[in-house]
Amino acid sequence: MSAPAPRSQVADIARQARALLVQVRESRWTGFDPPAARSSPAGTASPDRSSAAASRHPSRTATAPERSRRAPAAITAAAPLVTTPMPAEPSPWNSLEQVALAVSACTKCPLHATRTKTVPGEGDAQARLMFIGEAPGADEDRLGRPFVGAAGHLLDKMIGAMGFPRERVFIANILKCRPPGNRDPQEHEVAACLPYLRAQIALIRPRVLCSLGRHAAHALLGRTDSLSRLRGRFFEYRGTPLMPTYHPSYLLRTPADKTAAWKDLRQVMHLLGQSPPERHPTEESEQ
Ligand code: URA
Repeated sequence: MSAPAPRSQVADIARQARALLVQVRESRWTGFDPPAARSSPAGTASPDRSSAAASRHPSRTATAPERSRRAPAAITAAAPLVTTPMPAEPSPWNSLEQVALAVSACTKCPLHATRTKTVPGEGDAQARLMFIGEAPGADEDRLGRPFVGAAGHLLDKMIGAMGFPRERVFIANILKCRPPGNRDPQEHEVAACLPYLRAQIALIRPRVLCSLGRHAAHALLGRTDSLSRLRGRFFEYRGTPLMPTYHPSYLLRTPADKTAAWKDLRQVMHLLGQSPPERHPTEESEQ
């Protein structure tokens, strides 16, 4: 057996180990930092868009690489973001208006035959927060606007409680046309429609995404876990933090879950630097 190392040598090794630990800690992305600057997909952003976005989101000027395309992982302090480069996705649209125009002429899935109006989405083209629902219902189909029925009324309250007027956020859906009888979106419909939403997100470049309900979370995250497992923690959607939460229609049927939904929205507010009230403000008025 070899003789034990002298005390000074042990102290030396311990010092080196501590220094190494500090280096590792400092080089690792442990927190929930803002998304890094993204290179615009060729021909999708107007020339001044990146600087406008950078001034809205100063952190976007950071040079950290793009995030991974792999199935999104939940973001927690213990699970740093994956930072592999993500190739720019080509998009034929340069503005939200062009996306809306393309949606209005879309015949990619059978829903075009039964729709009254397309519902591309609406709101602030420079929104820091974007809500993504499932699909238009009867009221939305009639008016061509997202979330204008009973669920929309509750969503407005949720947005208001977060300290935003509705016009300051952007509201869209996975599907831009109403499924007959409000049935669940089908896989081929989601696949046909998703490029429009992806383009909208790429043009708006919100600081945070909030998906409403199971279908929106599944379509964006490519996961099939139950919503109760997904909600309440941040995921990453193509470099942007995404919080899945309950759909307002579900909350109207299950008001007891409003407390949980409010917890999710509070986390979103934190990320946006807003200070949230403790209680969920829709509690009294909706129950
Ligand atoms: N439900 C949705 O998911 N979207 C709407 O626009 C309206 C109701």
